[in-house]
Amino acid sequence: MRVLGLETSCDETAAAVVEDGRRALSDVVSTQVDIHRRWGGVVPELASRNHVVQVLPVVDEALRRAGCSLQDLDLIAVTRGPGLVGALLVGVQLGKSLSVATGIPLVGVNHLEGHLLAARLLPTPPDPPFLALVVSGGHTSLYAVKDFGQYTRVGSTRDDAAGEAYDKVARLLGLPYPGGLPIDRLAQGGDPRAIRFPRALNLPGVFDWSFSGLKTAVRNHVRAHGVPEGQALADLCASFQEAVADSLSRKLVAAARALGQTDVVLCGGVAANSRLRALTLERAADRDIRVHLPPPALCTDNGAMIAVAGTEAWRRGARDTNPVVDAGWTP
Ligand code: KG4
Ligand code: ZN
Repeated sequence: MRVLGLETSCDETAAAVVEDGRRALSDVVSTQVDIHRRWGGVVPELASRNHVVQVLPVVDEALRRAGCSLQDLDLIAVTRGPGLVGALLVGVQLGKSLSVATGIPLVGVNHLEGHLLAARLLPTPPDPPFLALVVSGGHTSLYAVKDFGQYTRVGSTRDDAAGEAYDKVARLLGLPYPGGLPIDRLAQGGDPRAIRFPRALNLPGVFDWSFSGLKTAVRNHVRAHGVPEGQALADLCASFQEAVADSLSRKLVAAARALGQTDVVLCGGVAANSRLRALTLERAADRDIRVHLPPPALCTDNGAMIAVAGTEAWRRGARDTNPVVDAGWTP
């Protein structure tokens, strides 16, 4: 079964062809970060406009790299939420047009379900049940994946998403947007114990997070000492990164233990973070928990994960063939 996945929910225009929900034949992503960088965040109207420009070339390229034409497809899967409404509309309208023109069925997919199932594209993929932590610019949520289509949220942030905290701290430090990668790189030359930043909600049995206090602690530090440079900047980045990675990995592994899960998955843009990956592996190994870490390209927004979620939805009988945009949809 060959499925075209379309993703335009935020600032990535993405399309991919995936076979049998397991093998990506192509995975093309056109990112808009250079467009949004000067504004320090995603500007919704600019995002929509650039999806309109990019979406057809990206689909053409995905088909070309997969060595197939539209007629070789069995299904088209498109993100219909959550996300920016104008951005989502571009992908959904293209999906509908292609489906009407070719007769290939269309299915609407939840963007978070895409992230949850991205690890299915790994050479040794996790089979449900597993526990998945979605950590991105918009979400920090922990889901128990009982089976395909059966997701229970067992924890989430009560304020900022982890990626949002990275992006806001980067801004305070004068680092470029998005802030995750620059902070991650600087942190690797810094001392994570230099500044003791707070870990919120650090209580047994609580699988929720809060990052707004951490952000304020960084702001207060900068107010008191000025924007650091050189080694002091690296130390601050390492200390902030340690607080985020410590809190995320600690609760992920604790939740796996509490819920009797043997497999955990990291997904979403922040799952690319070097310290979060290392600390999760370390803590899980102590507890005999297997960790599934998709490569960074599968962690950030992409079309392949949408194709996987669409394949599984179709297999379990979902026939949402006339999807409507739902900007606030959470599974
Ligand atoms: O999943 P994603 O591409 O888009 C959303 O759906 O939000 O995630 C983007 C987020 C941004 O906040 C970015 O700063 C963060 O992921 N990010 C990272 C790293 N790479 C990207 N955060 C920490 N460490 C990284 N290496
Ligand atoms: Zn995402």
